[in-house]
Amino acid sequence: MIQEWSDTEVQGFIDMANIVIPERRMQFQIVADLVPFGQGETFSFIDIGCGDGLLTKALLDRFPKAFAYASDASDEMLCKAEKLFEAYDGRVKLSCHNMHESDYLEAIVSGPVGFITSSLAIHHCDDAEKGQLYRSAYQKLSSERAFIVIDAVRPASVYGTELNKKYWRQSIRKQSIELGGNEEQYDKYKQIPIMFYDRSVPEDQPATLIDNLNYLIEAGFQGVDCFWHKCGFAVFGGYRS
Ligand SMILES: C[S@@+](CC[C@H](N)C(=O)[O-])C[C@H]1O[C@@H](n2cnc3c(N)ncnc32)[C@H](O)[C@@H]1O
Repeated sequence: MIQEWSDTEVQGFIDMANIVIPERRMQFQIVADLVPFGQGETFSFIDIGCGDGLLTKALLDRFPKAFAYASDASDEMLCKAEKLFEAYDGRVKLSCHNMHESDYLEAIVSGPVGFITSSLAIHHCDDAEKGQLYRSAYQKLSSERAFIVIDAVRPASVYGTELNKKYWRQSIRKQSIELGGNEEQYDKYKQIPIMFYDRSVPEDQPATLIDNLNYLIEAGFQGVDCFWHKCGFAVFGGYRS
């Protein structure tokens, strides 16, 4: 299901992201650490569901010779990204595509790329679509390259769900104090973990971490691993050798 983002929702996500998402900067840093290129190498990468472009930006800043194909289905998000990349001197091609399309990655750019990534977008696909997307990602990569994903993952039991709710709320409180100096943002957003797990939203279809890893293995990836995990958010992926 495609998620339509209004201007208000786009701004709402941008405002809350650094408070609500645990250790977002660390997530981006880990993705960059896992890029199979040296800092001075030239390569191109795709950011699936790039939103306002912060993961793309983190990679362009770390790899000054990299070129980004950043794609999203929301025009509002892409408008924000366009502003962000004004200073990036033609190093980004933004495009509007729907990741449910079967030729999605080829529509973004024809031919192979060296790296594919995504942050908090692929859980909008159902499990069959995730499997299809991971297979396409494998085909799209040149050899010795990588596909690294940040995403929400579904707990495999009620025990995991309760644990995630508890520690996710603690993380929101900590980041509210660290970033804002008080609990104001925590009070605003503390219901999100409860809402995420207790209310089923059709747009949110996270798979368990194990299922995600299995889809990657089935797609042909090697070195498949979870590289970081915290209260329901994970960085995982694999390599094409
Ligand atoms: C939670 S936001 C994450 C944005 C960005 N990657 C980040 O981490 O800040 C999810 C993004 O996925 C995009 N999205 C949702 N469904 C999509 C689809 N079917 N095709 C492409 N993008 C989609 C939304 O427009 C939104 O920008």
